[in-house]
Parts: sequence; structure tokens; C-alpha cells
Amino acid sequence: MTQLSAAQNAPSTPSDGSGKALYGGKSTRRVTVRDIALAKERGEKWPMLTAYDAMTASVFDEAGIPVMLVGDSAGNCHLGYDTTVPVTLDEMTMLSAAVVRGTSRALIVADLPFGSYQEGPVQALRSATRLVKEAGAGAVKLEGGERSHEQIRLLVESGIPVMAHIGLTPQSVNAMGYRVQGRGEEAAQQLLRDAKAVQDAGAFAVVLELVPAELAAEVTRTLHIPTVGIGAGPETDAQVLVWTDMLGLTGGRVPKFVKKYADLRAVMGDAAKAFAEDVVGGTFPQEEHSVH
Ligand code: KIV
Repeated sequence: MTQLSAAQNAPSTPSDGSGKALYGGKSTRRVTVRDIALAKERGEKWPMLTAYDAMTASVFDEAGIPVMLVGDSAGNCHLGYDTTVPVTLDEMTMLSAAVVRGTSRALIVADLPFGSYQEGPVQALRSATRLVKEAGAGAVKLEGGERSHEQIRLLVESGIPVMAHIGLTPQSVNAMGYRVQGRGEEAAQQLLRDAKAVQDAGAFAVVLELVPAELAAEVTRTLHIPTVGIGAGPETDAQVLVWTDMLGLTGGRVPKFVKKYADLRAVMGDAAKAFAEDVVGGTFPQEEHSVH
């Protein structure tokens, strides 16, 4: 079968005919952070998915997903850890490079893992430089609002676009658990301060994880950079989901905010059983699968 390029296979141009839309646009070049800024000006919503390997990333690229996050959720969803905390910079570099190789259109955002930027701006720059130079990522993401603004500022001044991440920050699970953030007046004010701090430091977008929908809407109205929601209601500029949750591959419970668009775990399990039964029963391989 001929392999379609991302652009050929992506959905058709939106009704305005401009070809500029992030999802469904005509462009064959990589999406840039400038494209993201223009989408906010147009009031256009856009989707982001995580990806951790080249093949899955190529499927999402061909589907027209404009931004892919090589999240440190790879820890739970790809590498078999219990949390994101053990993920290393070497692992993130390797996974990010694979996702870059598997894509031609999406902007690839690579997560800075726990311990690779908390020491300060210089450590953050050294780590981010690896993700950009060795893996080819177009941007990096790091967690924290006010507490990370110096890191964000130096990366941006050094030419590395930064997506910030506030609200629930899973790298701090040992300190904050997995709880809704921003509930109550004081916490809401802190979230707003965090959002403004990352914007002022130069972040091109900010992930809002597990915050009340009304607060996420207020942050989205307040900021001129796009907000990317996960468990943050319908009003954010973009939405992100972890791909293994979204496609039903994750085992066990998934968060309430996930919408499951497929049941890959069942599909793959059934296929594995069918293969095993064919082998045990001697019905695979057959003549058409044999060489002579
Ligand atoms: O690591 C990740 O996948 C993330 C998303 C949940 C935003 O940070």
C-alpha cells in the first residue's frame, strides 16, 4: 500500500478556505509556535495527543494532530513505572527522537522529566538543549508556575519554546497527590498567578491539568497564550489526552475526564488469543504465509 504523507491524509481544509487551521490545514511543513499563537488569535481550538514511539506518532500525524507531546506520562503508559517520577532525561531523549522521526507535520513538545530542571535555569537549559539538539523536539514542557518562571525565561531567551504545565503537576505526586487543584479562593488566585507568571516568562502555551472548568475558562480569557486543558472543562483553547487512555489501551482505571474513543486493549488481546489458538491448533501458518 502506498504510504500517504501526513498532509495528503489529513482532514480537508476548514470552511474559511484559508488552509491555515492547525487541525485540517493544508500546510505540509511542521507546525510552529507562531502557528499556535495565530490559532489563539483566530479563536481556533486544537487537539494535542501524547506519543511515545515512532509508529503511533505517525498514525496521529497522518490523522492531522497538529501538536504531539512526548509526555513523561511515558513513565506510566510506556515504560512500566508507577509514576512519572523515575523517568530519566536519557529516556525522554530516546522517546522524543523516535516521535520526531515518525512525524513530518506535528510540532513535537518533549517533557523535561523530574530532576532535570528543578535545580535552576542553567540545569533546565542543559536538559532542554538535549531534547532539542539530540531528539529534534520543537519545544519542551516543564511543570510549575511561579516556581519555574526563571527556568522558562532562560529557555525562551535561549531560543527554546516552552509549554508550561500548572494545576495538577504529576511530578509532585509525592507532595500533592492526584487531587483537583485551584478549588477555593486562595488556590484559584494562586493558579491565576501561576498562569500569568508562565506567560510573562515567555511560555507559548500552558497546560491546565485537573482544575475546575470555571477557573480554566477564566485563565483562558485572561491569558493571550493558549491554554491546553486536561480535566479542565470545555473552555480551554486546546485539549490534550494521554493516547493510551484515549484509545483504551491503559489497563485498570482511567481518570473521569478521559473519553475513550476505542478499546485497543480488547482488540489487541483478542488478536493475540486468536494467533495463539491458530498456532496451538496448527492453523497458522498456511500455504499463503509460507515461502518455498
Ligand atoms: O506527561 C503527560 O502526558 C502530560 C499530559 C498529561 C499533559 O503532562
